[in-house]
Amino acid sequence: MYNIFTNNRDDILTIQDNENLLETLEDNGYPVAYQCRNGYCGACRITKLSGEVSYDTPPLAYVGASEILPCCCKVKTTLVLDIDKNTHKSCEEDNDSDLF
Ligand code: FES
Repeated sequence: MYNIFTNNRDDILTIQDNENLLETLEDNGYPVAYQCRNGYCGACRITKLSGEVSYDTPPLAYVGASEILPCCCKVKTTLVLDIDKNTHKSCEEDNDSDLF
C-alpha cells in the first residue's frame, strides 16, 4: 500500500499494489481526462512532483521526465501529484465545450 498526496497536500489517498491509479483518482473525485486507458493516447498524463512508478509495458504515448500515465503505471513509492479536484478537466468537459 502506498500514499498519494495531492499538490496542495489537503488530500491523502491510498493505493494497493494491484490497484489502478487512474481508477483510484476517479474513485476519490479527481476527474482525470482519459481516452484509451491503456497507455496509447497520453490523455491522462499528469505531473508527478515526487515518487516513482513503473510500467509493465513501455507506453506508446510520450511521457516526460516528471509525468506519469495513471491509466497504466504501477505505483512503486509514495507519490506527490500535481493534481487538483477543481482544475483537472474531464473528457466530458472537453467534449461539451467543443459542440457549439
Ligand atoms: S488514457 Fe490513454 S494513455 Fe492513459
